[in-house]
Amino acid sequence: MCGIVGIVGKEHSEQIIINGLQRLEYRGYDSAGLFVSDGKQEHLIKSQGRIKNLQEKVSDDVNGTIGIGHTRWATHGKPSEENAHPHTSQNGKLLLVHNGVIENFDELSQDYLADETFYGQTDTEIVVNLIASFMENDSLSTKAAFQKALTVIHGSYAFALVNQEDPETIYVAKNKSPLLIGLGDGFNVIASDALAVLDQTHEFVEIADNELVTVTADNVIIENQAGQTVQRDSYKAQLDASDIEKGTYPFYMLKEIDEQPTVMRKLTQEYRDDHGKVNIDLNLVNEMADSDRIYIVACGTSYNAGWAAKSLIETVTQIPVEVQLSSEFGYNMPLLSKKPFFIFLTQSGETADSRQVLVQINQLGFPSLTITNVAGSTLSREAKYTLLLHAGPEIAVASTKAYTAQIAMLAILTQAIGERNKTNTSFDAFYELSIAAAGMEAMVDEKERLSSLVEQYLSTTRNAFYIGRGNDYHVASEAALKLKEISYVQAEGFAAGELKHGTIALIEEGTPVLGIITDAKTGPHTRGNLKEVESRGANTIVIASEDLAREDDQVILPKVHPLLTSLVAVVPTQLIAYYVSMQRGYDVDKPRNLAKSVTVE
Ligand code: F6R
Repeated sequence: MCGIVGIVGKEHSEQIIINGLQRLEYRGYDSAGLFVSDGKQEHLIKSQGRIKNLQEKVSDDVNGTIGIGHTRWATHGKPSEENAHPHTSQNGKLLLVHNGVIENFDELSQDYLADETFYGQTDTEIVVNLIASFMENDSLSTKAAFQKALTVIHGSYAFALVNQEDPETIYVAKNKSPLLIGLGDGFNVIASDALAVLDQTHEFVEIADNELVTVTADNVIIENQAGQTVQRDSYKAQLDASDIEKGTYPFYMLKEIDEQPTVMRKLTQEYRDDHGKVNIDLNLVNEMADSDRIYIVACGTSYNAGWAAKSLIETVTQIPVEVQLSSEFGYNMPLLSKKPFFIFLTQSGETADSRQVLVQINQLGFPSLTITNVAGSTLSREAKYTLLLHAGPEIAVASTKAYTAQIAMLAILTQAIGERNKTNTSFDAFYELSIAAAGMEAMVDEKERLSSLVEQYLSTTRNAFYIGRGNDYHVASEAALKLKEISYVQAEGFAAGELKHGTIALIEEGTPVLGIITDAKTGPHTRGNLKEVESRGANTIVIASEDLAREDDQVILPKVHPLLTSLVAVVPTQLIAYYVSMQRGYDVDKPRNLAKSVTVE
């Protein structure tokens, strides 16, 4: 959600910024802009829509040695050139880019800028003019005025500020929104995500909330709120530029679906010791094993992954599990158990809804674990423990490999707790994940078949249903989310038995209903529910485990451990969503209105 790239001390900063913004496209945006200067000539260029529109506006004579750029996902004010960043102060001196939301921008505008009129509707325009007004009215330097503004601003932000009269310095600050400094030889960069600038550097320095950082070509000075200099070590990003290449794939989503078996094996390598035992921080294992209830807090696909792992965790550890939506839980906290343990499932590690719960959990003093794909992300830094998914960057907005990696990670963790509490008698996570990985491999090889299934049943449909019971219901929810977010088909994931209690009224001639069947106990009932909709005109498609499949079922799933069926059952549904979107000519990786990392509540 919004992206920032900036650089100081290198020629053709405009191109470096554009390349960086392109790598941040996955975060979701609807307009983009940049400011560059070579000390003599300034250029402020903005465009609505894709980065290529911005690129087309950058003429050959532009050659900046300092610059800041931004992709905007509209919050305050519609997507338009005037609302695109960077924003300029009315005196023309200051340029500001911003990610996040300023909650008190109306009050700031009334208290400090009552006489001014603004050209756009964004909170960012208020902030840049606020800084300019502090410079003018209080005779402050750029840095001091920026520092003063930070003391009166409430909300989430990552800011990068340039004063055109000092074209050698970028000032940055963050609160709740991600921003990193990248160190170069004779230049320095800033970015919302290390991925954006990996072609420039692999060495990064983190910024903590409420710090102000002065970035020049040769220096990075970090100061805390009291103005004291903070020393912080840099670290090497364990990422390679090739991790974010699409290769021969038409879309990242397809690449990421295909990577899932490899991710299962990678996780096993990362968390298995030389004796075949689970290698996870014992303090974490003990603290979880001693808890009386595990709360999984998450949003969207990560929430669905929590549900898919619930019965696995309960069966192996005998500890009850509650799965909660972050955006609800934070504001309507249920009565908690006496010794709760909190797991935050989050691919990005930046989701604002989940973070607001973590802040409360930390205040209450309860232990927490973040399971995330992004090392150093906000939720990983703020939770007591972190487990990384090692899935490699997930670029497509629709999450696929992070979902299966989250379930696999929970399986490994669960085994460690089960062993510690002696509740686990037979579940061997590493063995079962190797079987699941082979099963997933078989499923990703079914592309042609799934593509023609889509052509036959889903090419023009406006709505669709996925149904299942138990774990199959949780996969149905994820399958429906995937379908609606990238293909805009109105899809519902339904508990198969519940359909007849009202929703069956929506079934018409030709409505596709996809049934997931991996459980011998509930399979016959789901088949019965499929018959009910079939007799009302629905086109039914059955996705069934090989031991429960019938001859005319359309998708046969390889047999895996009954607690891990979601790992294989979800793959054909990811591919179905992919083919619906692709066959309709949509941009599969960048669905409308969506952002990869949702940093506003
Ligand atoms: C859907 C999707 C979203 C995310 C949700 C939470 O494909 O990606 O539903 O799962 O926004 O994001 P994270 O996992 O980063 O907290």
